[in-house]
Amino acid sequence: MQKPNIEVCLSPLLFPLLDHRGKNVVVIDVLRATSTICNALENGAEAVIPVETLEECLAMEGENLLKAAERNGQKPEGFLHGNSPLEYSKELVAGKTIVLTTTNGTRCIKMSLGADKIVAGSFLNLDAIVDFIRQDKKDTILFCAGWKDQFNLEDTLFAGAVIDRLKLDFEYNNDAAFAARHLYVNSEENLMEVVKFSSHYQRLSKHGVTKDIEFCMSLNQTKILPILNQQQKLVPYTL
Ligand code: MLT
Repeated sequence: MQKPNIEVCLSPLLFPLLDHRGKNVVVIDVLRATSTICNALENGAEAVIPVETLEECLAMEGENLLKAAERNGQKPEGFLHGNSPLEYSKELVAGKTIVLTTTNGTRCIKMSLGADKIVAGSFLNLDAIVDFIRQDKKDTILFCAGWKDQFNLEDTLFAGAVIDRLKLDFEYNNDAAFAARHLYVNSEENLMEVVKFSSHYQRLSKHGVTKDIEFCMSLNQTKILPILNQQQKLVPYTL
């Protein structure tokens, strides 16, 4: 029987070249959107609503909403909450719905509309993502958010980690997937050291955000699998 296939999309610019209909899409934004989404749901948030613009985020109305935004790695003026996963403690988010807009990650979630299932992947929920892909047995796109359409190291490292764990169950006959796996296999013993070479590490550490990065690079802090539901809200998916 033909094994399902995993493709890696290294930049949003390349996403239109891949036909995502009928496939699952794992949106990856390790630093920090999908890590924030995973941690907020782990800490009891009801849902995370991804939106593309600051204006849409501010205009959102509803009960128990927290409005959160990031642009260029920082919290924009007029927002109480940013995109640090460590900000979303149980005390802050339990029972709340977070409306989130970030530079890249939330845009990629919206770009993925039309896919069979859209889930958020990060090192924090690596095993949950691998188990989901394995059990769902569907062709899957690992969608790296990158940085403003540029390739980035951390999202590609995560894609490689997923492929390395699924290499016996899935085909991965595309160069980006092959490259992502080899990047990961040659980095897995010292992920934190490797990620220090990433442009976003440099950008964030200028704002003193290194604690976030250490947390975002820690594996399997949660079993939560954030999935986009019919109301375009990210909620925990039960396998
Ligand atoms: C992104 O959207 O690329 C990230 O969330 C940026 C960040 O949080 O620093």
